Amino acid sequence: MLERYFAADEGTKEQYMQQLWRPNYHFTAAENWINDPNGLVYFKGFYHMFYQHNPLSCEWGPMHWGHAVSKDMVHWRHLPMALYPDEKYDAHEKGGCFSGSAVVHEDKLYIFYTGAVQVNGKVSQTQCLVTSVDGINFKKYEANPVISEYPKHCGSEEFRDPKVIQYGDKWYMVVGTSLGKIETGGDGRILLYVSEDLYNWRFCKAIFESCGEFGTMCECPDFFPLQDKWILTFSPMYHPQMKKAIYCVGSMDFDTFEYKIEYMGDIDVGFDYYAPQTFEDAEGRRICIAWQNGWLWMPWCEDFGPTAAEHWQGCMSVPRKISLTENNRLRFEPVDEMEKLYELANEMQNVRISTEKKHFTIKNPTSFRIKLEADARKITSRAFEIGLRGKENRAALVQVDLLNNLITFDRNNADRYVKGRVSCPFDSENGKFSMEILVDKSSVEIYVNDGLQCITSNIYPEREQVECWIRTPYKEATIDRISTCCIKPIWE
Ligand code: FRU
Repeated sequence: MLERYFAADEGTKEQYMQQLWRPNYHFTAAENWINDPNGLVYFKGFYHMFYQHNPLSCEWGPMHWGHAVSKDMVHWRHLPMALYPDEKYDAHEKGGCFSGSAVVHEDKLYIFYTGAVQVNGKVSQTQCLVTSVDGINFKKYEANPVISEYPKHCGSEEFRDPKVIQYGDKWYMVVGTSLGKIETGGDGRILLYVSEDLYNWRFCKAIFESCGEFGTMCECPDFFPLQDKWILTFSPMYHPQMKKAIYCVGSMDFDTFEYKIEYMGDIDVGFDYYAPQTFEDAEGRRICIAWQNGWLWMPWCEDFGPTAAEHWQGCMSVPRKISLTENNRLRFEPVDEMEKLYELANEMQNVRISTEKKHFTIKNPTSFRIKLEADARKITSRAFEIGLRGKENRAALVQVDLLNNLITFDRNNADRYVKGRVSCPFDSENGKFSMEILVDKSSVEIYVNDGLQCITSNIYPEREQVECWIRTPYKEATIDRISTCCIKPIWE
C-alpha cells in the first residue's frame, strides 16, 4: 500500500533546493514546525519516522505526529498526518500528542505517546496507545490512557515520552519525569514499567535519578541492549553544564530492576542536538536520530533560527549507527546508507598546510562532506583550523588542538543569527586523529575519531558564503589524508 506514496511526484522539492537554509539531505517537514523524532520503527519493509509537528505554523503549538517513510533511512517520503490532538486527554493548545515510540507485535504497529493537556491550568500528562495495521491509518485505543497516573513518590505531572521495547517475553517502557518543578530545582527521574500484553502496565522502579547532578527533568529517555550492556539515554533539562543528550552504559537486573551505570558520556555536545531516539533497523543495527535544534531554556537559544522565512522550522540529524567500544564508550557514525548520496569525491594525501588558507574546491559548496586523517607527530603547529561556509570575515570554524586534544566548534562569526563556541576533549592513540564533517546548508555535524565525539550545530550563512578552507594558526602541518565529496539531495 505504501508503494503508492513512493510513486507520487513531489514537485515542491525543487523549491526546497533553491532555499538558502533548508537542508538537502537532512529531513525537514514539508512546512512548519517540527521537534523530536517519534516512533522510529521498521515495519513491513519501510522505515517509519514520526515527529512532533505543528502543521499550522513555524512555532511550537498543539502537537500532532507528522509522518514519513523511507526504504533506506536516507530518502524520505512525506505521508499524511498520523496523529491529531483530538481527544480529551490530548487536545489542548499547550499540549497535544507529545513524544513517544513504536513497536511491532504480531504484524501490528503499537504506538505509545503522551497525551498532554491542562485541566484548570494544571498540567496532565498520561501515556496513550495507538495501533495501526497498515502503517498509514492509526486508531487511538478506546480505553486510553494506558497509564493515567504517575507514581506519587518518584514523579510529578511532568510525566512523558514513553519508549517501549521488547525484552524476553515482556514489554518494558521507560518514561521521563521530574521530582519537583522543572524550573525550580526539581530532580530528573526515569521510570520503568513492565507489561505482558502492551495494554496493562505496572510500575517497576525509577531506574535513574539525577540526584541534583543531571538536570531537573529527563526528557525522551531510551533504553536498549547493546552487546552485553544496557544503554540508557535521555535529554536532561537544566543540566548544570547544559548537556543535552547523555548516554549511560551499564548493566540491568530485571529481577530487582536495578540499573547499574558503568560509564556516562555525551551523545553530542553541539548546540543543536536534542531528544535523540533509537531503533533497531532491518539488519539489527541500533540507529539514532535526533532533532537538530534546542529549546529556549538553553542559554544560547534566543529563538529557533531564521528559517520560518522559508516556511520550515527544525530538521533531523542524519541517522547514526551506534556501537560499543571495549572500554564502554559509544560511537555514533552516519549510517552506511549515506554513501549513496556521496559523489564527486576528491582525495588528497600528505597535504601541506600553513597559516595561509588552503581552499577546497567543492562543486556544491553548501552540502558536502570533508573527511580527514592526521598524525599529531607530523603537525609542527600541533593545531589546525577548518573554515566552513566562509566569505571574508565570516565562517564557522572547526579548531583542532592536538596538544591538548581538544576540538572546538566556533560559530561566533558564522552568520548574523547565532553565536557561541563549544569544545570537547578527545582521546588520541599515538597522536592519531580523524574527523568527518557533514555540512548541509544550515547544518554542521562533526564526528571525531569515528564518532566517539559528535558536535552538531546550526548556522545560517548567506548565499555567498561558499568558501571552505584549512590552515594552521602558526607554523606548518602535513595532514595525511583529506577527502571531500558533494552530497546529493534526498528529495531527488
Ligand atoms: C522534548 C519535548 C518532550 C515532549 C515534546 C513536546 O523536546 O519537550 O519532552 O514530549 O518535546 O513537543
